[in-house]
Order: sequence, then C-alpha cells, then structure tokens
Amino acid sequence: MNRSIINILCCLISSLIATAQATNNLLPPFEKWKDDKGNFINAHGAGVLSYNGTYYLFGEIKKGKTHLVPNQSWEDYRVDAGGISCYSSKDLVHWKYEGIALAPNKTDSTSDIHISKVIERPKVIYNKRTKQFVMWVHIDKEDYSYAHIGVAVSNSPAGPYKYLQSVQPNGQQSRDMTVFKDDNGKAYLIYSSENNNTMQICELSNDYLSPTKNYIRILENQRREAPAMFKHDGKYYLITSLCSGWDPNAAILSVADSVMGNWVQRGNPCVGKDAATTFNSQSSFVLPLNKGKFIFLADRWNKTNLEDSRYIWLPLTINNGNVEIKYKDEK
Ligand code: GAL
Repeated sequence: MNRSIINILCCLISSLIATAQATNNLLPPFEKWKDDKGNFINAHGAGVLSYNGTYYLFGEIKKGKTHLVPNQSWEDYRVDAGGISCYSSKDLVHWKYEGIALAPNKTDSTSDIHISKVIERPKVIYNKRTKQFVMWVHIDKEDYSYAHIGVAVSNSPAGPYKYLQSVQPNGQQSRDMTVFKDDNGKAYLIYSSENNNTMQICELSNDYLSPTKNYIRILENQRREAPAMFKHDGKYYLITSLCSGWDPNAAILSVADSVMGNWVQRGNPCVGKDAATTFNSQSSFVLPLNKGKFIFLADRWNKTNLEDSRYIWLPLTINNGNVEIKYKDEK
C-alpha cells in the first residue's frame, strides 16, 4: 500500500474514533466541565470551528459577580464582558485551553468591546481566499439598545483576533446571531432583528468581513433567537429559541431548500422528558460530525450566577429528513 493511501486510512480511522468518542462520551450536563489545566471550561453561547483535523471551541467568558441592570422592563442579569475564549480538541472530549481569542477592552468605555458592553455568541469561519479566520459576534450595550454585530480577524485559528468594527447589516438591528458557511464557500449572518420580532439572513461579502445588500426576512413576528444553522443532504436547517431572556423554552426547527429560500417551521426537534424547555437549555450551535450525525450545543443559563451556567451537548440525528435531539445524560 502506498504512503498516501496509508495516510488517508489513518486520517479516516482517527476521525471515526473521534466521532465515536464524541457521540458516546457526551458531556455530563450537571457536572462542571474541565480543560487540560483542570480549570472549568468558560465558553458560553459557543460555536465550533473545524479546521485541519482540530476542533476550536469559542465562547463567551462569564466571570465575576452577576448584577441586575436597573430600570429594565425585563430581567437583565449581566456580568462584565470577559471577551471570547478558545479551546482546541482532536476528539471533542479533551479540550486544551488556547487562551483569550478576543480580549475585552478594560480602559476605553466607548469601545464596542469594553467590559461594560455585551460580547455574545461568537462564531468563527475560515476564509480560503484570504486565509483569514473571521469571527462574528453580537455586540451590544448592557441594556441591549445598540443591537450591532462585530467582526474580528486572525491569521491563526486560536487567535488572538483583532477587532475591526461593528455594524447593523443594511441598517437593521442585530442581536442573537450565528454564522453559516455553505459548501460553495458563501457565508451568511443569521440574526434576530426588528426588535427581536423577525430574523434576517444576510449574505456576507467574499472576504466574509462585511454584510452584502442581499438579505431576507424569515420567521416574521415569531420572536425567535439563539439561531443555529446546519445542512444535510441539500436541505438547510435552523434551530431557534423563543425570546425569554435567560429562561429556557421550546426550540423550533425550521427547514429550507436554500439558505435564502423559504423557511418553513417544523416544530420542536427535542423529544422526551423536558423537551418543552429544550432540556432546560437554549441553542447555541450545531456541529456536523458525519453523515446524519450532529452535536447540538446548548447553554443552561444560571441567570443569577451567570459564571455558573452549564452546557449540554446532545446527539442530533437526521433520518429521512426527520431531525431529533434526545437527552443523554452519561459519561
Ligand atoms: C437571551 C440571549 C442570550 C443573552 C440573554 C440576555 O435571550 O439568547 O444570548 O443575550 O438573552 O438576557
């Protein structure tokens, strides 16, 4: 057997082992989850970049005392923005701490990424043309009146990322968000807009650094947020939550034949006990593993002590177009 076939076989075997480990050793949701240094993983509202055989996990750093922002009509519990963390892993089970990927600004209170601001739901994609890693992230004021989306870049996956700016795509508000990169290299922002009443999807420029004018409105007046998009067998899927702050509610799956196509709501993909609260969690990302197998990443927020919020990662399967997320509490 020649060397390249042996290499391909080795890659295939190790990816199968990693996938088997990942689907069989999902996180014990009630436990705190530790990195290679024995510290608790601090990566909320997370997203995962898969690059060159390594998974990179990015999430909000929530550290310090939770406070309630005064004079809000809703429970605006906050911690100072800690920036975005990065962890890497080959098997999705053991995670190495890579450091702070996007550091918050501690001195300039006018900066988008000052610790007094909101820096949430980071998602990173790789741009093959520019060879840059591009992070998009929800940027807001602590009363959520700013409703912008920020962009940062790096030449290496784990960062550090350089913050460029924030925008409102086509002048539209952007709060809870995600990014989706299609197989053809086109990438899209998906975000809650119009006072969280309606979601929008906006195509990104070829360098992924700015929104284009091409955008659509979806799930009109449905008050959806926490978007997580994935693709399988030519169909596009979007899981969202209802807007209820840090409190959990039922996820809804929507399906379309193209990213910019007609999105149709299909109901709750969660099955079994506690499906009505998404197993007491809120969607943040869906990670593709291999054919029809995905991992659903979600946050179990602890609103009065946000630093102590937990994660659940559950198997998501698609059989004949039927998407199911089942609770699995195991080691
Ligand atoms: C949720 C949102 C979180 C965070 C929170 C603040 O609705 O999904 O990411 O922004 O509101 O209350």
